[in-house]
Amino acid sequence: MNKYPVWFDCDTGVDDAIALMALHTLEEIDLIGISAVCGNALLDDTFFNTHRVCGLIGASYPIYRGADKPLYGEPHVSTAFHGHNGLGDVELPIPDSAVMHDAPAWDALHAAALQHPGELRLIATGPLTNIAVALTKYPDLASLLHTILIMGGSASVGNVTPAAEFNIYIDPHAAQIVFKSGVPIVMCGLDVTLKAVLTPDDWDELAATGSKAGAFTKACLQPAWRMLQAMGFAGVPMHDACPVLYLVHPELFSVEEAGVYVETHGTITQGKTVTDLYSDKQFEKKNAKVVLDVDRDRFIEILKACIRRLP
Ligand code: RIB
Ligand code: CA
Repeated sequence: MNKYPVWFDCDTGVDDAIALMALHTLEEIDLIGISAVCGNALLDDTFFNTHRVCGLIGASYPIYRGADKPLYGEPHVSTAFHGHNGLGDVELPIPDSAVMHDAPAWDALHAAALQHPGELRLIATGPLTNIAVALTKYPDLASLLHTILIMGGSASVGNVTPAAEFNIYIDPHAAQIVFKSGVPIVMCGLDVTLKAVLTPDDWDELAATGSKAGAFTKACLQPAWRMLQAMGFAGVPMHDACPVLYLVHPELFSVEEAGVYVETHGTITQGKTVTDLYSDKQFEKKNAKVVLDVDRDRFIEILKACIRRLP
């Protein structure tokens, strides 16, 4: 089987962790490397959480440290959804086998792209700071990447403000660099991710398997569930698993080609991904595939099947 070479940039967080567990088990994926960025939690937490999740599932990937804050401004961590440690306050050890690489994320990403010219799929599930730094430092990177698949943005609602989704809101300038890079983009925004909900029955079923991964999936989602249940949600959206499953099972999703650019100077609109999907006035370039819908039941069945493969 021809595997997709993939680089995973994340702000591990609970849904990043579940996305990583899926990446690890999907046979269509050759996970080349991982980079951590400040987002849901501070960089030390997102970096070591990524190591912790790899230790939990018995995975060994090169993991690199990236940006400890957005291009402009300061971090805004998301403890309500991700707990104080970024893993839903579940305590996991850093594996003894963890290797600490000195190269920064952007250098490692560029080196990986040179090894897989035109083929590397970049999946980014946190603020896009690392990607923006890499694209700026290495002008050839845009031509080396096959596709950038992001969890971020929205053609409709926001989740930090009425206008903006968290990953874009935290670093809108970085997101604008990515959307203007010329690399084909798949945007899995809130339009689709809010439909990809894992319910308490789903995580109870996973926990009942007796696996560590199943138990972790249930436990790490509890802070988010407490917050979302009070808001009337039926479960916890698997935001970050969406670009992962889109890469391997695009048939589960519906997409529209669109022009997408980021508001970087607004006050109430700061971080909004402005699309021309519902506008007579069109942007000059259709720079992104905007994912709008998903077959939720099949998505969740595939995601649960991934987690059931883990120890
Ligand atoms: O808005 C949801 C996104 O913000 C997800 O990637 C979640 O992990 C947080 O980073
Ligand atoms: Ca994330």
